[in-house]
Amino acid sequence: MMRTHNCGELTEKDIGKEVTLCGWADTRRDHGGVIFIDLRDRYGTSQIVLDPSHNEQAHKRGEHIGREWVLKVTGHVRKRPEGMENPKMPTGKIEIIADTLTILNQSEVPPFEIDDRIQVSEELRLKYRYLDLRKPEMQKHLLLRHRAAQAAREYLSKNGFLEIETPILVKTTPGGARVYKVPSRTHPGKFYSLPESPQIYKQLLMVAGCDRYFQLARCLRDEDLRSDRQPEFTQIDLEMSFADQEDVLEQVENCIAHIAKETIGLEVKTPFKRLSWREAMVKYGSDKPDLRFGLELKDVTETVKHSNFSIFTSQIDKGGKVFCLNAKGAASFSRKDIEALIDLAKRHGLSGLAWMRVTDSGALESNIVKYFPEAVQAKLTIETDAKPGDLLLFSAGEFETAAQGLGQVRLEVGEKLNLIDENKFEFCTITDFPLFEWNSDESRWDARHHIFTHPKDEDMGKLKEDPGAVHGKLYDVVLNGWELGSGSIRIHRKDIQTQVLEVIGMSYERAEKTFDFLLEAFKYGAPPHGGFAIGFDRLVTMLGKHKDIREYIAFPRNKAQENPMDSSPQPWTEEFLKELHIKLDIVKKPGNPR
Ligand code: AMO
Repeated sequence: MMRTHNCGELTEKDIGKEVTLCGWADTRRDHGGVIFIDLRDRYGTSQIVLDPSHNEQAHKRGEHIGREWVLKVTGHVRKRPEGMENPKMPTGKIEIIADTLTILNQSEVPPFEIDDRIQVSEELRLKYRYLDLRKPEMQKHLLLRHRAAQAAREYLSKNGFLEIETPILVKTTPGGARVYKVPSRTHPGKFYSLPESPQIYKQLLMVAGCDRYFQLARCLRDEDLRSDRQPEFTQIDLEMSFADQEDVLEQVENCIAHIAKETIGLEVKTPFKRLSWREAMVKYGSDKPDLRFGLELKDVTETVKHSNFSIFTSQIDKGGKVFCLNAKGAASFSRKDIEALIDLAKRHGLSGLAWMRVTDSGALESNIVKYFPEAVQAKLTIETDAKPGDLLLFSAGEFETAAQGLGQVRLEVGEKLNLIDENKFEFCTITDFPLFEWNSDESRWDARHHIFTHPKDEDMGKLKEDPGAVHGKLYDVVLNGWELGSGSIRIHRKDIQTQVLEVIGMSYERAEKTFDFLLEAFKYGAPPHGGFAIGFDRLVTMLGKHKDIREYIAFPRNKAQENPMDSSPQPWTEEFLKELHIKLDIVKKPGNPR
């Protein structure tokens, strides 16, 4: 190595040693003859002193050095003079008096300073990502991600999981996310797909007798981006044979707890808190509830059905629900605040949001209270624990719409009332998802997850008569309101598969045509199996207490799915298209009359 030490490790115990450091010039300060350079690398920063009375040549070279020049310095470690120490830096008590300075490379003036404190536009950060990643904060993110990956491998290997890679060029199978397609040069007119997840392949590995599989799998999905979504992302993907739901969850939760401990020293209690899908929806209006604060919703349908408020009663008559959120202490919200909550509710599918304030005397007050007989008001007050100073917010509609709409309002109110402790990690596992959902446009049942999810054993009898009441062996892990991962126990037997397919109006023969190689493999002794995929980018981001997964991905894409650094995606040349036997006739080139 060209260096003896890195820029972050020298301390008082090294005083007197001769050392050689390599790194980038972070700052250069000329203090009347003596030049100070902060030399930075991945590990930290060390102060270099170029003193003409100590070494004239090194000092002379130092006069021209600019930001981000690459330097090699040999010198002696000495104690910083009294009053010049920087207690915030691990190397803050020492400095290196340079004997020789070698310029390994020069740098153009960078488009932004490599400084965590300076705000740089996202476009610029992504365009010069290699400079952005030089920032100490970003180096920490990469380190956290690396440690998390190591911890995952460590835990899973210890528990008998084999790391096996699955193909990236695959066959398109319907369902799930929209996939990217890759034209084949050798098979004109044919395309590969890029995998949205290794789902089918990991199930095949169970048929292959691998028993326990895992992979830090790259997944590709052509979908609209949000702060928790990228088109290329990574899953800690796993699958187990001869395992039921609790066996899978035990491994997943312990694996997450191990990663949390090894990365940020967080002790996570397992098993995680369990909530059924219905419980989560009723209490929190979400299948990914943020449990860092209370403000639980209440189903008040039975009470308000005795009111004269037609917006509620008409929904109840149609089989809908009315939920109430007691925003504790929020009676002081202004009219404008409430209007903003109503707008939010509307954006999430509700026709509006009814509200009542609780006055100092404990009475309910608003322009709709008159529609609620006294007995109903009294019952509501008890049911929602309404106390002076509270604000009651109501949603009405079909179960999921009413719950989810008010769930969004709950999150906003939680934030407005400052109830969310950003230092808390509240994991939970959601179970018992409904297996099917009614597709009213096409008047038929659809699989909520995918057609291979096993129904709960006790619900098998309801498949024919009451598909809406069938729950799946389907589970999600949630952290602070983010879906961290999801999985299921799969169907491995033809008789059960046939019954499930019947519900969604698909024959086994048609399914065989679509999922040919999986169902073909299942003929040869498929073991009972199930698995899970943890969203690795999301987990790492949350452990780092951030809200945007791009902070933990080395080379992410911007919101338009472009990479400003390599300018992908790019227009294809005629030569490329020819080689791939492709003719573009939809995308018009500017100026092309066609
Ligand atoms: P699912 O599609 O729910 O399940 O994905 C599992 C987890 O992957 C993460 N995730 C994403 N992270 C970043 N960007 C994205 N675009 C993105 N999409 C998903 C989430 C999510 O919870 N094969 C099944 C798992 C199984 O059944 O075993 C699957 O992929 O954290």
